[in-house]
Amino acid sequence: MKKILLSGVKPTGRPHLGNYFGAMKQFVDLQNEYNSHIFIADFHAITLIQEGSILRENIIDQFIDYLAIGLDPKKVTLFKQSDVPEVTELAWIFDCITTMPYLMRAHAYKDSEAKNKEINVGVFNYPILMAADILLPQAEIVPVGKDQKQHVEYARDIAEKFNRTYGETFKLPKELILEEVQTVPGIDGQKMSKSYGNTIPLFSKDEKIKKAVMKIPTDSAGIKDSKNPDESILYQIHSLVLNKEEKEALRKRFLDGGLGYKEAKENAIRDISEFITPMRERREQLSRNKKNIVKMLIKGGKKMRKTIQPKMNEVRRKVGINIK
Ligand code: TRP
Repeated sequence: MKKILLSGVKPTGRPHLGNYFGAMKQFVDLQNEYNSHIFIADFHAITLIQEGSILRENIIDQFIDYLAIGLDPKKVTLFKQSDVPEVTELAWIFDCITTMPYLMRAHAYKDSEAKNKEINVGVFNYPILMAADILLPQAEIVPVGKDQKQHVEYARDIAEKFNRTYGETFKLPKELILEEVQTVPGIDGQKMSKSYGNTIPLFSKDEKIKKAVMKIPTDSAGIKDSKNPDESILYQIHSLVLNKEEKEALRKRFLDGGLGYKEAKENAIRDISEFITPMRERREQLSRNKKNIVKMLIKGGKKMRKTIQPKMNEVRRKVGINIK
């Protein structure tokens, strides 16, 4: 029996190489090993996006992205969160067994508060809904970025609290954070992030890739000089799209000297483009049949909703709202 894996991503805009190497690629790599469930966290996105037409477009775009990078709906249950409305029902039940001070300790909440933002209740309750996402399908493995580690811990704590209160019901989930994909640098060397404006979009056209790579700062070393790959943003970004041998070879060329930055950038542009182009073309192809795409997404949601019914019924019985 394969273990149950589940993860979600908020549909908040177009993905970049950092999103891909930080999370999306893991989903593809793990789809054979686990009984995988990947969803579009549209309920969570409403904490941020409050314009219907934008959210709707983002949901469909994100689903196409997942298919384009190679998630296979035959192996993975792909769905959108709101097609399993039971998660909000369960989240309410979790609300009632969770204390305010406990939620106030969440990093995401504290960060928003430190920034003096007007925090909506959705942001405050975010970890509870996420716990429901994870626990209802009895996920054991939750692949996430480092920033989501605390949220998975919250899910574990909430499972324990429910189990203590109502008897053994939920499995305790565990986060999966793959070491080598934790931080992807942007073209300025900071973490790649839309808010820093330093990204290379995942489905970029060649021109865009070229423009981004040309902007990567390099030091004043000459062609002949030895260059330290570990201090080179160009090397770090280029090596993302290389296999082990290619990476070693590039490392050696940096260290040996003889590779000038002009050539190094041309090579990076060529390799990044070779990596992105097939995915971009697959994406363009899929986008031509949006109707079919929507149908596939709804189908995934129906399947998921059916899967979680027995657990939800068990919860309703234990809590006492199911009087049959
Ligand atoms: N909070 C996650 C993020 O911002 C998205 C998410 C929602 C999620 N529910 C989840 C991730 C359940 C893993 C499991 O990326």
